[in-house]
Order: sequence, then structure tokens, then C-alpha cells
Amino acid sequence: MRHLMSPLDFSVDELNDLFDLAGDIEYDTAKYADACSGKILATCFYEPSTRTRLSFESAMQRLGGGVLGFADAGSSSAAKGESVADTIRMISCYADICAMRHHKEGAPLVAASNSSIPVINAGDGGHQHPTQTLTDLLTIRSLTGRLQNFTIGLCGDLKFGRTVHSLIYALMRYPGVDFIFISPEELRVPDYIAEGLRKSNIRYEEVIRLDEVMGRLDLLYMTRVQKERFFNEEDYVRLKDFYILDREKMEAAKDEVLILHPLPRVNEIAPEIDNDPRAAYFRQVKYGVYVRMALILSLLEIKV
Ligand code: NCD
Repeated sequence: MRHLMSPLDFSVDELNDLFDLAGDIEYDTAKYADACSGKILATCFYEPSTRTRLSFESAMQRLGGGVLGFADAGSSSAAKGESVADTIRMISCYADICAMRHHKEGAPLVAASNSSIPVINAGDGGHQHPTQTLTDLLTIRSLTGRLQNFTIGLCGDLKFGRTVHSLIYALMRYPGVDFIFISPEELRVPDYIAEGLRKSNIRYEEVIRLDEVMGRLDLLYMTRVQKERFFNEEDYVRLKDFYILDREKMEAAKDEVLILHPLPRVNEIAPEIDNDPRAAYFRQVKYGVYVRMALILSLLEIKV
């Protein structure tokens, strides 16, 4: 039985197979309509979410399966002091697969090691968010035709942004990917990730100003400043609007650049660029459903 805790749990070849399957699902969704009939997905979300939870639920329902779960730890037995290990033992009796989001880093891993059903990490604290990364990779592959030889700028909260951490890990395995990290000093990418890049001889630059590098980017991954991970409100208020991508900044960008964002956005992308053909963040949401459908099929070992 397999779980998904980190984007590195799947090899590059396995990811390619997963993305091929997601591509086929996009092409002929109806073919998969009953693939998970009789199966149940549990979504155990101890932290707020709209996109990821609904994306999982939509994925399972489009596969003909059922869903149950909770979207708020306060309404689950966690509020009574139940451990994650006990919760997953119980969930294993109700469902066939579980997607778990938790504010504590490593909680889904604890769940996986006590589970008799596959567990998917749907975001653990400021650590990892592998299914967002699968979404990001599928989006890049589908819209540019490749997962190599490009310059990607990651901009915003690189310290607490788990989507950024997972995406960097995943892209490190593809050749010719140059990273430009764009953040205020206080929100730089964590040392352990920068060190991993250096050890693997992967090129990266760190800059503070987005306009300095805009014209060099093939992909720009914008992120929200992660308010919930700040220790004090003052720092958050000072940093929250550090970057605002607007029409003026887009003038310096390449014609074929893609703007990605895991969403939700706050102020970091001005709505005036939503209709720019280079803005790909709403298309990205659709790929999230296809890739989660492919992931559920793969972890449940269902072939169509
Ligand atoms: C992200 C998350 O939860 O880490 N959202 C998501 O899952 N699409 C990004 C964020 O909350 O900023």
C-alpha cells in the first residue's frame, strides 16, 4: 500500500505515468465516471481549505465514488483530544482512502504509519503540499509541453509557503530548471531547501525585487503571505503587500510567460491581469481535479 507524503514519493517516471493518466482523464472524463464506484474518500481537514478539499471531493465524485469527512477540527473528535493515530484507525474502517490536512508538520505521516488505507498529505503546516505540486507540474506540462529547461521565479512567502517547498523539491529532479527566488529578506526560502539545491549543484538566485528579473522568467509562481504562520500581526501587516503583480509589471514579462498561483490570492495579483492570456491560475485549478482523480486511481490501484 502506498501513501503520498512528499512529491518525491513518486519517481519521475511514475509522475509521467500519472500525468499521462490525468491527460487521458481530461480528454475523456466520462470513461472514468464509474471507476471508483463503491469506494469512499475521507477528507480529514484540521485546517481551513476550500480548493484542496473541494478538489479532492470533486475528483472522487467524478470517479463515481463517495466522500465523507470534516472540514473543521473543532467539529471532529480532535476537539475532545483524540490523537491523529486513533482518528485514522477509525477512518480506515469507514473509507478506502484518506486526504488529510493538518496544521502540524508531520501529522499526515503519523496518520500514514497507523493507517490500513492510503493516506494523502493535503498540506502539513509550513512543510509540504504534494498534491498542489502535482497540480502545478501537470499545469506546466500541459500548457508548455515540458517539465525541463525553463527559468521559474517563485515570489512571495518562500519561508512558510509549503506549496513552494514541495514545488522546488519536485522540480530539482528535472534538467535545466533555473530557480529565481523573489522574496523579502524575512521570507527567504528555508536554509534546508537552499542547502539541498547547493548540494545537488542546482542553480538558484535570490533577489528582493520582482521587476529586476521579470523579463527573464518563463514561469512566475506567485504566493500569498501565509498570515496564519506569523508569530506577530505587525510583521504580517508590514510584509503582506510587498509584491503586487499588476498590468504595469506584466509589461516587462515575456509574451509566453505563465503566471501560476496555488490560490487563494489576497493582494499579490491584481484582478486586472486575470484576463491576460498569460494568467494561468484559474486553469491550474482544473488540472488539480484531473491530477487528483489520477492519484486516487493510482493509490487505489484501479485500472480503467
Ligand atoms: C495553499 C495551501 O494551503 O498551502 N492553498 C492551496 O492548497 N491551494 C496556498 C495558500 O494557502 O496560500
